[in-house]
Amino acid sequence: MMRKNILKIQVSIFLVVLITLSSFAQEKIKTSLIISNDTNQYYKELYRPQFHFSPEKKWMNDPNGMLFYKGTYHLFYQYYPEDIVWGPMHWGHATSPDLIHWQHKKIALYPDSLGLIFSGSAVMDVNNTSGLGTKENPPMIAIFTYHNMEFEKAGKVNTQTQGLAYSLDEGETWKKYEGNPIINNFVLRDFRDPKVFWNENSKIWNLVLVAGDRAQFYTSKNLINWNLESEFGQNSGAHGGVWECPDLFKLKVEGTQEEKWVLIVSINPGAPNGGSATQYFVGDFDGKSFTTSQKETKWVDYGTDNYAGVTYNDVPNGERIFLGWMSNWNYARNTPTTNWRSAMTLPRTLSLSTIKGDYVLQSKPVSQFNQQLTTEFSKEKIKIKKGSEKTLNYPKFNQSQIQFKAENKNLKLVFSNIENDSLVLNYDAQKQQFSIDRRQSGKVDFEKSFGEKTHTTPTPNLISKSIDFQIILDWSSIEIFLNGGIYTLTEQIFPNQPYTKLTIQSIDNQEINNLKIDAIKRIWQ
Ligand code: FRU
Repeated sequence: MMRKNILKIQVSIFLVVLITLSSFAQEKIKTSLIISNDTNQYYKELYRPQFHFSPEKKWMNDPNGMLFYKGTYHLFYQYYPEDIVWGPMHWGHATSPDLIHWQHKKIALYPDSLGLIFSGSAVMDVNNTSGLGTKENPPMIAIFTYHNMEFEKAGKVNTQTQGLAYSLDEGETWKKYEGNPIINNFVLRDFRDPKVFWNENSKIWNLVLVAGDRAQFYTSKNLINWNLESEFGQNSGAHGGVWECPDLFKLKVEGTQEEKWVLIVSINPGAPNGGSATQYFVGDFDGKSFTTSQKETKWVDYGTDNYAGVTYNDVPNGERIFLGWMSNWNYARNTPTTNWRSAMTLPRTLSLSTIKGDYVLQSKPVSQFNQQLTTEFSKEKIKIKKGSEKTLNYPKFNQSQIQFKAENKNLKLVFSNIENDSLVLNYDAQKQQFSIDRRQSGKVDFEKSFGEKTHTTPTPNLISKSIDFQIILDWSSIEIFLNGGIYTLTEQIFPNQPYTKLTIQSIDNQEINNLKIDAIKRIWQ
């Protein structure tokens, strides 16, 4: 049903969009469709993300090896080319000039006798410190985890080691380093996900990986021989599950000259709303050890579907760009898609600010995302009387961005469709809490934990008089950014039809300003 409906909408070249704003009323959608003979069905399967990265076919999980070099953003990713469930891991590869439009490339790394290719990272060894290329033609270096299935089956603990591969043609073809593994392990079951980067302060390569319930920090002069310098985390942060996919980078605190280091660590299970999520620590790093005075656990995203996210190496102007896997290990294998499974979050620029004397990591869509937007509706002021509601009808909420400023008072937003699916966002100003309820949002019964409960986050940092809402919906996801990403919630949704109605309700007198609905251009041709 939804597929037909989406297709109808997609193939219409003269879609007349009638957006109606009605008080206390539920109006029927008014669209007139003139069907063209557009036969391009590429990336138009049911629930296929239209402006998020997803693999052409088969299974994907974590983003890997994110690197910017000579005008190209490289994205590698955990990939199983044989099925739409997790299996023997490869590194898939795609490139982009702008992080929005992607070109699929050949599989970069295949499993070998040392194991499957788990998550990791990549750098350009511009000075050929590894000796694996030349100064004139420096190597691109990937450092990843080998997971040895034979060892696992034999009940051995030392299944995970770190390997290196290099490319002398900017990521087109790869060779494994002959001396692999470069970091061995004889005792730990969980020892993985190396993130390597050049440390400009100490002029040395750094690497952070996770070892069970902690992160380990290494140094190297040549990317091949690594020294373990320190550990962090055994007694810090959340420990509901194993630590995974760490990252470490420096950010300037907004509006100051102060620089802090941010350590990101994914954890599964143990997320605030169940299953997988990513926590962060703000502190200092002297090139060898990470220290922090942070007491409480902080999360990058409070939704259920932003996992294993890490940041790009070498982006110009020091911009720190983050990409996460838009799923959750609780139900990642069961989502109702057909020939592919999973997508990445939108690429997000990270920044660090202080609110009430405490560091807060903010994330918002990269600025180049704005190129994809066309404003289809705007309204300067909408007044909602105590206990009442306003309804916006728009046929393509599932490929749109909704933005507005609301008073810092209670507010409820309900996206719905003619199938009676509803996705409910609720801000409770008294409780200082934001929630997303996808229990009736469409297909939810493919796995119990998907539609089991409302997901909430405390919002003590929403202290301004009015709150900026930025809500981005694709065919099977919603991303919510409050006050420029002070709070972010990312979730998958599988509506039976696209949402066509947005009801804004308030139990207080509420004034909404600068409301805008933008259509989002699809990225796949
Ligand atoms: C995180 C993760 C990583 C591992 C990879 C395997 O989602 O479990 O720790 O390297 O996925 O695919």
